[in-house]
Amino acid sequence: MKFSKDFVFGAATAAYQCEGETRTHGKGKVAWDDYLEKGNFQADKASDFYHQYPVDLHLAKQFGINALRISIAWSRIFPYGEGVLNQEGVDFYHHVFRQCQKEGIEPYVTLHHFDTPLALHERGDFLNRETIDAFVKYAAFCFKEYKDEVSYWFTFNEVWPIATNQYIEGVFPPCITYDISKAISSMHGMMVAHAKAVNIFKSCGYKGQIGIIHSLETKYPYDPTNTDDIRAAKKDDILANQFLLDATLLGYYSEETLHTINELLDLNHGSFHYDKRDIAEMKEAANQIDYLGMNYYQSNFVRYYDGENEIVHNGTGEKGTKKFKLKGVGERVIKDGIPTTDWDWLIYPQGMYDMLMRISKQYAFTKGIYITENGLGKKESMSDYHIVDDESRIDYIAKHLTWLLKAINEGVCVKGYFVWSLMDVFSWSNGYNKRYGLFYTDYPTQKRYPKASAYWYKRVIKNREI
Ligand code: NOJ
Repeated sequence: MKFSKDFVFGAATAAYQCEGETRTHGKGKVAWDDYLEKGNFQADKASDFYHQYPVDLHLAKQFGINALRISIAWSRIFPYGEGVLNQEGVDFYHHVFRQCQKEGIEPYVTLHHFDTPLALHERGDFLNRETIDAFVKYAAFCFKEYKDEVSYWFTFNEVWPIATNQYIEGVFPPCITYDISKAISSMHGMMVAHAKAVNIFKSCGYKGQIGIIHSLETKYPYDPTNTDDIRAAKKDDILANQFLLDATLLGYYSEETLHTINELLDLNHGSFHYDKRDIAEMKEAANQIDYLGMNYYQSNFVRYYDGENEIVHNGTGEKGTKKFKLKGVGERVIKDGIPTTDWDWLIYPQGMYDMLMRISKQYAFTKGIYITENGLGKKESMSDYHIVDDESRIDYIAKHLTWLLKAINEGVCVKGYFVWSLMDVFSWSNGYNKRYGLFYTDYPTQKRYPKASAYWYKRVIKNREI
């Protein structure tokens, strides 16, 4: 079993996690800037991509990687989200894209990767229709400005994690907990913004392609013979996956989805209202998107749970500290025999295959899926000889690629795979403690050192097999 010649093997990054220079060169603030100031780490210099991008792109090329996911920092272009334009920011991305061209690397560009400009965030982020309008203007600007340099676009990265981390788990600013109404409404807001951006992109007739990225975790009943566990898993799936898959691929919310969402909202004394015109936009976009991006790291086993909310986020890598009990949904539990990372993420490569098969069956989606992120987060250090022997990462990626190949062979159209991340980057809730890179970033010197996984990945890319 081999990957075809045109299968894309890439790696991924995100602006706020790698660029540094978060408050200089005309960049406007994002909510993270002030939030992180109260904590133990900052996103400066991160991996200093703002200055190191020629090094990273050249190294990527040397390792056979010819596609790179990067994101544009909205507030580097529009410091306040709309209005004033920062030409230096606009030029920065022209330089990056031109360097990509020079190195023969195809940029896959995301417009929003967890970094709404502060001015809009403070006015309600995607709970406020003004943010939708501002996002659409920003997207339209980028499509036009970079039309000769970018052929592959993604509107948003990980809509559910944004919503749950902002409004349920409370680990992303504004750090609100257990507000299901806000989580649902903000997901809907982002989906409307996505749809409007896709429709503008298509109506302008640009030559490129466009899609959106969702983080999709397969939800299995803890006890597959227990009807309560089956229902709990289904509810978790509807909330975290199906709501967004419906919006993206159907352009409306199915009856089953709305039924469960409303049930959950009733229980939490919440509500969800939307305009009929939103659905018209979403349907138009669903017919026009070119591909779906899927980030996949883990799956969940879900057990029936009848109690109050109790979520404890493991943001330190202290194994066994995570708890996830969501009122009216269920409890995510560790299952015997299934390995976990230090952050209690279940390593379950089959979940990637099951999700791919499900999307292609349930939505008859044949246009193409990219695995836009997959990788293993670890606490790592480099030996005196500059060696990082990340055998467990190689094992993780190899197993996921094996299940991916199985899905392809069974007819799912998967066009590419991106390792998260190209080099070690800043982690939202772990700072510099959690590394994913193919290249080790030595933060004090900002030098890059290829890990064993980079050499292994290079061989996979060359031979088209694992
Ligand atoms: C998904 C997000 O897109 C990325 O920003 C994050 O660092 C990785 N997951 C790892 O947690």
